[in-house]
Formats: sequence, structure tokens, C-alpha cells
Amino acid sequence: MLELLLPPPADPLWTLTEEFGADARPERLNLVLGVYRDDAGTTPVMAAVREAEIRLAERSDSKEYRGLSGNTAFNRVMLSTVLGADDLTGRAAAVQTVAGTGALRLLADLICRTRPGTTVWISDPAYVNHRPILEAAGLRVRTYRWADAEGRPDTTGMLDDLREARRDDVVLLQGCCHNPTGVDPTPEAWEALADLAVHSGWVPFLDLAYHGLGDDFETDLRATRLLAATVPEMLIAVSCSKNFGLYSDRTGCAMVLSSSRQTLRHAETALQSAARTLYSMPPEHGAAIVTTILQDERLRTTWRAELDAMRDRITANRAGLTLHLTGLGHDVPAQTLARQKGMFSTLPLTPDQMLRLRRRYAVYGTTSGRINIAGVSAHQIPYLAQGIGAVLDGPRR
Ligand SMILES: Cc1ncc(COP(=O)(O)O)c(C=O)c1O
Repeated sequence: MLELLLPPPADPLWTLTEEFGADARPERLNLVLGVYRDDAGTTPVMAAVREAEIRLAERSDSKEYRGLSGNTAFNRVMLSTVLGADDLTGRAAAVQTVAGTGALRLLADLICRTRPGTTVWISDPAYVNHRPILEAAGLRVRTYRWADAEGRPDTTGMLDDLREARRDDVVLLQGCCHNPTGVDPTPEAWEALADLAVHSGWVPFLDLAYHGLGDDFETDLRATRLLAATVPEMLIAVSCSKNFGLYSDRTGCAMVLSSSRQTLRHAETALQSAARTLYSMPPEHGAAIVTTILQDERLRTTWRAELDAMRDRITANRAGLTLHLTGLGHDVPAQTLARQKGMFSTLPLTPDQMLRLRRRYAVYGTTSGRINIAGVSAHQIPYLAQGIGAVLDGPRR
């Protein structure tokens, strides 16, 4: 049977990562995947996570099945943490998922179960997995503009495109630290988006994967909370991979907001039934860690301080790269970089320039120009700036 399989397209990010693994040059830089690295180039287990794990190892006495919504204490604490409200009974429901990807997929299934063939709007450019996840669930995809060539939010383009979205459509938005551009809408643009959603009737679908790594945890959630307070219905996919460093523990949450208790009950059951046919129930470990941290004031404070330090390092890296590019006379790309936020930056380089950066300087980013700004150590920044400067065409000062 399997000989009938046509060769599937290779995953571009993992292919590049494998290529990096085979590159023996000592100066090589892996800026492909969205993984935080400290200045020593490692992805450490956060101290709060380590302490929670020790507590769990000492206290947990069973690995019995959880229910279909996973860890319900996790779901409750995630709802209140993300939405900034203590009691969300009757307003929101959540199920634990296999990380952010699992949340995106379960919510896509929910949309498809509700109305097969629904159109979901995604940004152009979008997170590389948005379109595949939505299409795999049977949804249609259209795109809206996001940023201009200089790396500013294209508010006019975005709103013009989304005025075409109809009442039955869903609009997928990244709540902060947009992957891949690092460009976020202004607070005014978020307000205009919320007004448009109410006026047009489309449903916002928020993807949160980098909250805490842009401005600060609360500010990064502001757009999500604004929409949640404005629209009657909303979907949210939350990942704990980056901001808790739980990449391989696959920890996340799918949330549904509605003013109808019955709709919430139906949505939760539909999410559970989608999970049941995919993997039955999500893994407990990461959810137990996050719950332990968020329910304990001291651990929560430790975690927030660690998250702040991660963000500060990312911000310092971006500022350092900007400074060095300016020093090399590349003011325009430097200014583009300076406007971006979060783990990713999109360099204003063509695919050919990105290829030259890889071949000549062993700097691995995606062909679209995306680099993981958290993947560089401080001492490598001058080298990175030099490589970018060397492959950049265009006017110099
Ligand atoms: C925008 C965005 N959403 C969702 C995810 C999924 O993250 P995970 O499934 O690892 O939690 C990612 C991961 O890179 C992402 O960048």
C-alpha cells in the first residue's frame, strides 16, 4: 500500500535545521527555529519550572487518565491569566491541548464542525504552519496585509482587506510578537480591528505564542483582552512552549469565549470530541508544571522574573544588531529591525541574499528573511551584522 505514497514535501524549517546540523563551520549560527537561547547558546529549564517539577515528583502519586479536557485546574488558571479576570464562569471555556499547535488544530476542527468550509483569514506573511493547519482541518484560507516593506504595520492595508471578511468568516490574528515579521499593530489599530469585528460580525481567532517576550506579559496580552471585552464570540489558541520553555512537554490551551452558556458547553464538548479522535487526551506533565507555578505566588514571581530576563536579552540583542548595522552604514535595515518585537525579526533581505548569508557566513535563517533574534549570543552580534551588511545590496551612507 505505502508504495503508492508520493514523496511528501519536506518541512522547510526542519530541513534547514538538519542542514545546519551537518555544517561544521565553528562560526555557524542557527537562527531558524523559534527557540529561546541564553547567551551560552543553551535553552535552559527555567528555575520555576525545575522547582515545580521537583514538587510534582515528590507529591504526585498517580498517573491515572485525566478527563477529555485534560487538567481542569490548568484550564482555569490559564483562562484567568490570559484574560486577566478571576471569574470567567459562563463567559469562557477551555480545554488543555497538545501545545499551541494542538490548540490551533482543535479550534480549526471546531470551526469546521460548526460550519464546514468556513473561510479563515490569515496575515500575509503568516506563521508557516497556519495555512497547513487550517487547510488540513478542511477550512478555506484568505490573506490580509500585515506589514509594509519597511517593517511598519500596514494598518490601512489590513483593515481594507478585512472589510471584505463576511459575518461567517473567522480572522486569525497573532496577539503579539508577530511571527515572522516581529511587527505588531498599534493600540489604535487593535481598537479599529475590534470595532470592525463587531461591525462585520466575523469571529476573531487569537494565536498567543510569545506573550511576555515583546513588551511585558500584561502589555503583550492587551490586544487579546481588548478583543475579548469587545466581541461577543472569540477563539484563542495559547502556547506555553516559549514563555515557560516547555517546548517538548507540549503544553497549551484552546479557549472559547461566548455570551451563551449553552454555546460554551457545546463548544467544549466539540473540542473534547475532536481531541478524542486525534489523541484522546493531552499529556499531563507540562500542564501540571504551569498550574503549580501560576497557583503559587513565589513561583509565579520567579517565573515572571525569568521571563522578563529572557525578554531583556532579546531586546538587547535587537538593539545590538541595530547599532552594529548602523555602524556599518546600513541605516535602513537597522531602522526596520529596531521597529520589531519578540523572538523574530524579518531582515529586509531577498531569498538569494539569505542563501548567500548561509553559504558565506554560516548564518541560517529562513529564505523569507526571518531570523530568531534570541538565537544569537552577544559576542556573535558583530559577526552577524557584518554578514548581513556584506550580503546587503542597496545604498550605504
Ligand atoms: C505563531 C505561532 N503559533 C503557534 C506556535 C505553536 O507552538 P507550539 O505548538 O510549539 O506550542 C508557534 C511556534 O513556533 C508560533 O510561532
